[in-house]
Amino acid sequence: MSHSPPPIMSSASVYSGIPAVDRYLDAGYATVPGMSSRFAAAVCCGLMQMQTNLGVTGPVAEIGAFEGRFFIALGHALAAGETALGIDLFDWPNADVIDRFEANCAKHGLAAGRRITWKADSRTMRPEELLAKLGGKRVRFFHVDGEHSRAALTKDLELATAVLDPAGVIVLDDMLHPGYPTLMVAVHEYLARHPEMCVLCIVDRETIVAATKFVLCRTDWFKRYEERLLEIYKGYVWPLGADFEPHWCLVLSLDTRLAEIV
Ligand SMILES: C[S@@+](CC[C@H](N)C(=O)[O-])C[C@H]1O[C@@H](n2cnc3c(N)ncnc32)[C@H](O)[C@@H]1O
Repeated sequence: MSHSPPPIMSSASVYSGIPAVDRYLDAGYATVPGMSSRFAAAVCCGLMQMQTNLGVTGPVAEIGAFEGRFFIALGHALAAGETALGIDLFDWPNADVIDRFEANCAKHGLAAGRRITWKADSRTMRPEELLAKLGGKRVRFFHVDGEHSRAALTKDLELATAVLDPAGVIVLDDMLHPGYPTLMVAVHEYLARHPEMCVLCIVDRETIVAATKFVLCRTDWFKRYEERLLEIYKGYVWPLGADFEPHWCLVLSLDTRLAEIV
């Protein structure tokens, strides 16, 4: 019997299960300048849908909102009455980026009342300042995609952890990226400092720009999230998983092949 390897799948067929998000993924996502992959956006918003179904509530926050590509998807995954907080220096590549961010949010249906735009530097931000922006509500989904240095990621991770809901997740962008090898050092140092946290899953890259994301959660939430991810995204599970010594986690990829042995 001959076995042909599974095909490499297209992210165009991956969805979150939330109609407003999936409409944006199909008709808006690629038109908004940004770096995160559609695959990661679909999985992350699918994860937010799982949170809502599990009774996990609260705002989302993103460090590095840029022009809003990923932020708008997250905003559409919120439940009624919840808010999205977009943090950025908003000075790159020029000062008009904040206007483009606002225009993209408005154009793609993330109404002004559902989002908070915060032009600020995460390196000097204190957890109580961030919580004050959110009326004291703890964050259920935090996307960290700001400055890509080891020191900045360390600071952003501590900030995110300090404001996170106990059932919340932290998503880290540009992991395992050849251009940012020291980010992995920051992640391992963080995991050693925070044994209550673990990597829930790895969402593989689409391209070198649309790079890999790590999803972190508290260890006591790992199983609940993992079993649901396995059920909903079973077609995207790379069979061998990832070894965080001794903890293992799921790897979700559009390419689930193993090396061929001839
Ligand atoms: C890679 S872009 C983010 C892309 C966006 N998240 C997406 O998925 O399309 C990184 C952003 O981080 C912002 N940034 C860098 N350092 C920052 C800091 N210290 N505080 C806040 N934002 C920062 C930059 O201004 C830039 O817009």
